[in-house]
Amino acid sequence: MEDLEILKNKAREEIKLAKEALEVDELEAKFLGKKGILRKYFSWLKSLPPSERKKLGQKLNQIKEEIEKAILQKRKELKEVPSREFLDLTLPPKKVTFLGRLHPLSQIFKEFIEFFLRLGFEVLLGPEIEDEWHNFDGLNIPRDHPARDLWNTIWLKDFKGKLLRTHTSPVQLRAMEQKKPPLKVIVPGRVFRYEATDPSHEIQFHQLEGLWIDKNISLVNLKAILTLFLKEIFGQEVRLRFRPGFFPFTEPSLEVDILKDKKWVEVLGAGMVHPNVLKNGKIDPKKWQGFAFGLGVERLAMIKWGINDIRLFFGNDLRFLNQF
Ligand code: DAH
Repeated sequence: MEDLEILKNKAREEIKLAKEALEVDELEAKFLGKKGILRKYFSWLKSLPPSERKKLGQKLNQIKEEIEKAILQKRKELKEVPSREFLDLTLPPKKVTFLGRLHPLSQIFKEFIEFFLRLGFEVLLGPEIEDEWHNFDGLNIPRDHPARDLWNTIWLKDFKGKLLRTHTSPVQLRAMEQKKPPLKVIVPGRVFRYEATDPSHEIQFHQLEGLWIDKNISLVNLKAILTLFLKEIFGQEVRLRFRPGFFPFTEPSLEVDILKDKKWVEVLGAGMVHPNVLKNGKIDPKKWQGFAFGLGVERLAMIKWGINDIRLFFGNDLRFLNQF
């Protein structure tokens, strides 16, 4: 009986160590198969006297069951762990669909900001709830100025004189209040307009504002930087158009268009910071000058990726978001 115990332990040990289904098949044949070890014991039973035959028979059946159980268990285990035989390292990895990712607007903002950081700009943020001074008056847009109509404003009824900023330009003033010139900042942020929504209008969207004030900064610098920037985002072959424009806070002012599907699309406003704005920011316009620009982030993202409806950015539709 002694050696049957040893046989059982040996079988269990070997099955435990098996790493592949093929090995388990071999062990099954070795111990339980037609020419297997146990079968030899069973045929030897016939030569024994009946009393011993019964005892040994029971013992053999018990061992057989235990080995079968161990094999079954091992097969189950191996099914749970993918077996090495089937691991084809040349196949592309399985796509993990539950991983998160950055929203397309965050992605493009990151690209924009990295570009300006490389040119030595620093990032500044301002409040989304603004006062009338920073959003309008301080930017040379007095109350009765018709230019105010350009910005359909959402006023906060319960907070007198407060509004949801209609552009990121108020942060130009805040930059001047916080820092001494020379100034070289960009301002990423969300802005709000009281507008009916359609494929190209939303009540909220994003802008990137830029401001560079120093002793000799001119339109030449402005044009060079914006050209570099737009070529970086859209590729060297992009067609740009700089044309005169009007903004109360810049003089002269200009607008920049990009050629898209044979049509010029306006993407940003810019200009030399108006002396009144510098004065409002306590900067002496006789000593300092500089340029500012403000671009529409969704507008640029739509051109870059061929998106035809601005509302998709805020719809939270995974069929849209998963494409980025
Ligand atoms: N704030 C303007 C807008 O929202 C865009 C703009 C135009 C920003 C000219 C500027 C600028 O800094 O110089 O329409």
